[in-house]
Amino acid sequence: MAKERAVVVGAGGIAGAWFPPLKTEGVDVVGVVDLNLEAARARIAEFELEAEASTDLAATLKETAPDFVVDLTVPEAHCEVTCTALEEGCHVIGEKPMAASMDEARRMVETAERTGRMYMVSQSRRWDATHEIARRSLSAGEVGELTTANCDFYIGAHFGGFRDEMDSPLILDMSIHHFDLVRFFTGRDPVAVYALEFNPKGSWYKGDVAASCIFEMTDGFVFTYRGSWCAEGCHTSWNGDWRFIGDRGTLLLEKDQTPWGERVAGGEGFHRDLESVPVPERENAPGGMHGGLMEMLSFLREGRQPQTECHDNIKSLAMVFGAIESSAKGERVEIRA
Ligand SMILES: NC(=O)c1ccc[n+]([C@@H]2O[C@H](COP(=O)([O-])OP(=O)(O)OC[C@H]3O[C@@H](n4cnc5c(N)ncnc54)[C@H](O)[C@@H]3O)[C@@H](O)[C@H]2O)c1
Repeated sequence: MAKERAVVVGAGGIAGAWFPPLKTEGVDVVGVVDLNLEAARARIAEFELEAEASTDLAATLKETAPDFVVDLTVPEAHCEVTCTALEEGCHVIGEKPMAASMDEARRMVETAERTGRMYMVSQSRRWDATHEIARRSLSAGEVGELTTANCDFYIGAHFGGFRDEMDSPLILDMSIHHFDLVRFFTGRDPVAVYALEFNPKGSWYKGDVAASCIFEMTDGFVFTYRGSWCAEGCHTSWNGDWRFIGDRGTLLLEKDQTPWGERVAGGEGFHRDLESVPVPERENAPGGMHGGLMEMLSFLREGRQPQTECHDNIKSLAMVFGAIESSAKGERVEIRA
């Protein structure tokens, strides 16, 4: 089979995590585009690529005609980069968050529809083997019918760069992972949200870097989220620490350990007798960026629909902008993708 050909746009920090799986899977990277030509050249040299360095995306796409584009730019550039690539006839896998506004995201979905190209978002935390154990256990009904999930995310992160300047660094750049994960784990979609974003005393961020949110989701499911990127000490997992409650028991996913739980075994009394929740075997499959790339390659090779195809992923982004709107208005808002 001919090798797939790709152009990578954005040669910043996260690009370092994408070139290794692109190489492992034998994808031919024919161009690296960045506003900063030196950054593009440096990545080409670092990963010994036979690729052209460029600052002009449209020209590079016309010249190289790749099968797909990997958009690793900052969130504000995702709409322009992705729409340019789709209009040039390329499929696109782009970094999260899909876009910097719902209007931009809807434009991206419309452009994918009109051009007949695939646009999928890489939600790297979906392809984690431990997360897949939790998803399968919950969807098999091991704790009964799901009613509730809580997620706590507390990390003290000193990035420097674009996150320090964003209005909503936590919700837009990080919580998108957790909001997408609750949909992945539970199969529930967002209905409405009540949220408060804030910037704690002593914060080194300009925007609101902490938040508490209550989401109403389909089937009467409730998801409570608490997070901060400005919390020193006693960190949670980067994936968040989770509690899932069903009508027969509870499953915990904490500190990236194998999920475990307890459920009712029968009997009477104030506390019912409990037993351990059985959890499925771990399956070894590529995780992180490699997992996202495999979704795009499966689409190209077998026509399989990626989990995070844009019509689906815009629902995770709608949780982000619903929470931001709710906090700004100080009221519950309905979520519309
Ligand atoms: N999945 C994850 O776990 C994860 C982790 C980190 C970052 N990310 C995401 O990856 C994206 C990039 O983050 P980063 O940390 O690499 O940022 P970064 O600032 O280090 O790099 C971004 C690069 O994009 C370039 N760029 C910006 N606008 C451009 C445009 N219009 N055309 C071409 N190049 C452009 C910049 O010059 C820069 O080199 C963000 O969306 C971020 O949320 C995902």
